[in-house]
Amino acid sequence: MKILVTGGAGYIGSHTAVELINAGHEVVIVDNFSNSKPEAVRRVEKITNAEIRLYEADLRDRTALEQIFADNLFDCCIHFAGMKAVGESVSKPWEYYDNNIGGTMVLLDVMRKNGCKNIIFSSSATVYGSPAEIPITENCPKGKCTNPYGRTKSMLEEILTDLHTADVKNGDKNPWNIVLLRYFNPVGAHKSGLIGEDPKGIPNNLMPFITQVAAGKLGFLTIFGNDYDTHDGTGVRDYIHVVDLAKGHLKALSAIEKKCGVVIYNLGTGRGYSVLDIVRAFEEANGLKIPYKIGPRRPGDIAVCYSSPEKAGKELGWAAENGIVEMCRDSWNWQKNNPNGY
Ligand code: NAD
Ligand code: WQD
Repeated sequence: MKILVTGGAGYIGSHTAVELINAGHEVVIVDNFSNSKPEAVRRVEKITNAEIRLYEADLRDRTALEQIFADNLFDCCIHFAGMKAVGESVSKPWEYYDNNIGGTMVLLDVMRKNGCKNIIFSSSATVYGSPAEIPITENCPKGKCTNPYGRTKSMLEEILTDLHTADVKNGDKNPWNIVLLRYFNPVGAHKSGLIGEDPKGIPNNLMPFITQVAAGKLGFLTIFGNDYDTHDGTGVRDYIHVVDLAKGHLKALSAIEKKCGVVIYNLGTGRGYSVLDIVRAFEEANGLKIPYKIGPRRPGDIAVCYSSPEKAGKELGWAAENGIVEMCRDSWNWQKNNPNGY
């Protein structure tokens, strides 16, 4: 298939581009580099030995997007582009709604006008809010998101679903096919150590914070609370290796090929690890010490969040293959080989 990957220079997009190319698909990337660098795409080319058509453009730039669709005939779009920092979204809600919703609206319009109505969308476990059940299945009702970022994901899921529903009602012969992928906590990096997560400034997320402590860039990890109702009091999450996540997108393409309508899949491992479990696993996997202190809870955090990945297993034949050791080892391998990112 010929696939437009929006945000393909980013963390998950670059890893997905590798898997798509390795599986024989043609990848075209559009990115505005607001949170990434062109070097990431060069590294993907190095890993895959392929040349990638790369457009530097913002999704809100309709003229640029129309040009991209005039140059290429796409079978499908995998839509990663967006802003993703939860805390920042609270202080900059306009920017988040404008970029995530505004960018997607332009993309969807240009897609439909060009007859490409197949899309795989990066959603998030954040749409479950404080989940009504653990492990979280796709049937779990969406919860109240505590921040604008989460609300953009939840709203976009609904916007996409409405497009498909209207097509069916209107008897459209070519209705939208939409796969909503709800990612849990992506970590790790490609085995080559050539691509990985490259956060700007001090990382918000646990694993890049740990790797920067390991590298001596940060003095210690602050664990946000040890008084949760979990086995050791620290927050429990479903960490998933980014390469497994990337492979989930390949499987989602098969759903698109079968004209799936709207389908939702959790992409997680189904296993929950606490913050302290991760610290210990990282230390053991890499033979390093991670100094930490216990701090107060982070506002908006929940105690426990992990998936049931059963639906993706049954319907897509997908399951995560890497465990916590690989996640910790590959995260450190990337950080060690690229102390200053790209
Ligand atoms: P990332 O920031 O590394 O990648 C996003 C890419 O999109 C970046 O390269 C950025 O430059 C680009 N971009 C942003 N706005 C754009 C615009 N208007 N036009 C063109 N390009 C634009 O993030 P990621 O971790 O790879 O996440 C990818 C997607 O997955 C995002 O939509 C994110 O919300 C979602 N997601 C991420 C996580 C996570 O923990 N990383 C979890 C759940 C969902
Ligand atoms: C994991 C655990 C923290 C940093 C976020 C978004 C979510 C999704 C994935 C996009 C929690 C603890 C963290 C630190 C810590 N992104 N922690 N010290 O919050 O589960 O999910 O990223 O969709 O929407 O909310 O991930 O990596 O920030 O935190 O103790 O310095 O680590 O409290 O228990 P989170 P995270």
